[in-house]
Amino acid sequence: MNASTNQNVQDSLMLRLKQETLSEHDRMEVLMKQSGAFESKENYAQFTLSQYYFQKDVENLYLDEKVQRLIPDLDVRGRSIAAFKDLEDLGVSPQQQSVATQTVAYPESLGWIYVSEGSTLGAAFLFKEAQAKFGFSADFAARNLAAYPEGRAIVWKRFKQTLDEAGFNEEEKNQIIAGALQGFKRFGDLLEDLKNLK
Ligand code: HEM
Repeated sequence: MNASTNQNVQDSLMLRLKQETLSEHDRMEVLMKQSGAFESKENYAQFTLSQYYFQKDVENLYLDEKVQRLIPDLDVRGRSIAAFKDLEDLGVSPQQQSVATQTVAYPESLGWIYVSEGSTLGAAFLFKEAQAKFGFSADFAARNLAAYPEGRAIVWKRFKQTLDEAGFNEEEKNQIIAGALQGFKRFGDLLEDLKNLK
């Protein structure tokens, strides 16, 4: 690897996102374990509520034209409808209407979308657990954890490429990373409050 490729790797937005949010990701895994999401169907339903609210937060950001221009395949992304149907299967109707991203601007918003898209990778494990423990599936109660029709890896790779090729400057990259940290914080708050979600 020559010096300039090395520089490119160092500057890669996706690499920075991964490295600079690593401790938040670890925290999510701990919170997931503590949530006992797979210990009972009631806990699983509360976890599905957290997924639903987070997806609503993220999908609110899809309404921005700048986001639409950068990410042309938004229509295949987002899982709030899937989560809503899962909640119906589980007999739960979400009571909250507000979204946590009202004041999130571009390009910070891309950091939130990063958290949501990346979470589809870990969801592969959660999907298997929901199948094994409860017999849930991509057609019942675990739609929001199922892979996108094209497959998780392909859709993720396309997202990574879009962000890396967009040519953001350092300030913009910093804003996107700040947005990702906000996204993780929001999901962490939902997980910590899981029992009280309505
Ligand atoms: C038990 C829970 C979880 C497990 C086991 C898990 C596991 C994983 C795994 C295996 C990857 C792929 C790593 C790679 O290929 O390099 C990943 C990536 C990721 N996960 Fe999770 N995850 C969990 C929860 C979450 C949650 C709750 C979120 C956010 C709401 C999240 C956000 C992400 C993100 C953003 C990435 C992409 C990292 C990158 O930039 O490459 N994960 N996760």
